[in-house]
Amino acid sequence: MGENRVLEGRRIVVGVSGGIAAYKVCALVSRLVQDGAQVRVMMTPSGERFVGPVTFRSLTGRPVAVDQWTDLHETGAHIALAQFAELMVIAPATSNTLAKLANGLCDNLVTTTVAAARGPVLLAPAMNDHMWTNPVLQANVARLQGLGYEFVMPGEGRLACGESGVGRMAEPNTIRESILRILGARGGGALAGKRVTITSGPTREWLDPVRFISNPSSGKMGAALAQVAASRGAEVLLISGPGAALPAASVDTIAVESAEEMLRAVEAHLPGTDVFIGAAAVADYRPEEYAAQKRKKSATPLELRLQPTPDILQSVAQSDSRPAVVVGFAAETGDPEAEARAKLERKGLDLIVANDLTQPGAGFCADTNEALILGSRGQREAVSCRPKLEVAKVVLDQVEKLLEESSGGREAG
Ligand code: CTP
Repeated sequence: MGENRVLEGRRIVVGVSGGIAAYKVCALVSRLVQDGAQVRVMMTPSGERFVGPVTFRSLTGRPVAVDQWTDLHETGAHIALAQFAELMVIAPATSNTLAKLANGLCDNLVTTTVAAARGPVLLAPAMNDHMWTNPVLQANVARLQGLGYEFVMPGEGRLACGESGVGRMAEPNTIRESILRILGARGGGALAGKRVTITSGPTREWLDPVRFISNPSSGKMGAALAQVAASRGAEVLLISGPGAALPAASVDTIAVESAEEMLRAVEAHLPGTDVFIGAAAVADYRPEEYAAQKRKKSATPLELRLQPTPDILQSVAQSDSRPAVVVGFAAETGDPEAEARAKLERKGLDLIVANDLTQPGAGFCADTNEALILGSRGQREAVSCRPKLEVAKVVLDQVEKLLEESSGGREAG
C-alpha cells in the first residue's frame, strides 16, 4: 500500500495542550486530513490560548472538543472521543500535561480522554530545555514509557523562549512518521483487524467463604501482551484473574476468579479469535468440595481432596474454533527447554514461552522476564532478561510471523 493511502479512513484524535508548538500542530492536522485520516481535535484551556479552535475546526471540518461538558455523546465527550480514536496524539504535550498523565489526573477534556484511551497514545513533548531536563519531568516521562505510552521525543534547536537546547517539539513530519509506524500502516500491521484473547493473572479456587488456593502471579506479563497487541491494532480481550495488573491502554477486560470461570469466559469468546495467549497462572487443582460455612479449626489434621481444574489452554488448542495461533507459557524449575517443548507438543500449541523460575528477574511478580520462545515449526528464540513489555513485543513478533504464514498459506491454497 502506498504511503499516501495508509492513513485513509484511520481515526486519529489529536489533543493540543498549552505550548507555542501548538502552531506546528496545525500543519500536522492539515497533513493528516490530506492523508485521508478522520481527525478530531481536542484542546486544553491553555492550548486554546495559543491556537483558536476555529483554526482546527476549519482544518478538520469538524467541531473541536474543548471542555468535558461538550455534548458529543450521551456518555460524555471523553468517552465518545476515546471510542472513536484508533490512536491519540498529544501534541504539544507540555510538562504539566505529562505530569498529569503520569499520575492519572483527569482535570480537563484532554487528560480525561487519555485516561479512557483504548488504543495507543503518542506523546510529543515540547518545552524549555531546563524544563525538559528537570528530573521530575524525566521521571514522569520514564513512568509513562514504562506504562507503554509512545513518545516522539523533542529535538534540539532554538526554542521559542530564546534559549537553545533540547525541548523543541518534533517536526510535524516526524510525528506523522510515528503515527504511520504505530498504526502499523507501514510495516504491514499484522495485528490490525485481528482479535487477540489473553488470559492473565492467578485463579482462586475457594475452599470455603474465607480461604482459597492460589499463586503469586501478578498478571504483569498478560497486561504487557495486551498492551503491545492493542498498540499494534489488535482488538484485545483480557480475561483476568483476581488482582491481575491491567494494561495502560484500556482494552476490554473480563474479571474472573476460578479456573472454571476463566474457561467459560474463554469459550464464550473463542469464535472469531485469531490469537489466543494463555498467560494466566491457572491453579491446576481445586478443592473437591466447597464448604458453604467457614471450616472450623480443630486439633486434628485437615485433609483436602483436590480435583484437577480444566486445562484452558489445551481445550482452546483442541477446540473446533481453534484460533490460528495458540500460545502458552511454561514456568519451569527443571530443564525449561525440554519441559516446555514437551508441553508445546502435548497441548498442541503453536508457540510456548518458557520461563526458568530459578533465574533472577524471571517469573512471578517481577517487572522483567527472561524467556525462551519455542515453536511447533522448530522456532527457537532466547530472550535475555528485559522489561515484560519488551518480552511481549518479541512474543508478538513471533505471533505476527505465524499469522502472516497462515494467511499466505490460505491464499495460496
Ligand atoms: N494453563 C491453562 N489451564 C490450566 C493450567 C495451565 O490454561 N488449568 C496454561 C497456562 O496459562 C500456561 C500453560 O498452560 O500457558 C502452562 O501451564 P503449566 O501449569 O506450567 O502447565 P501444566 O500443563 O499444568 O504442566 P505442569 O504443571 O506439569 O508443569
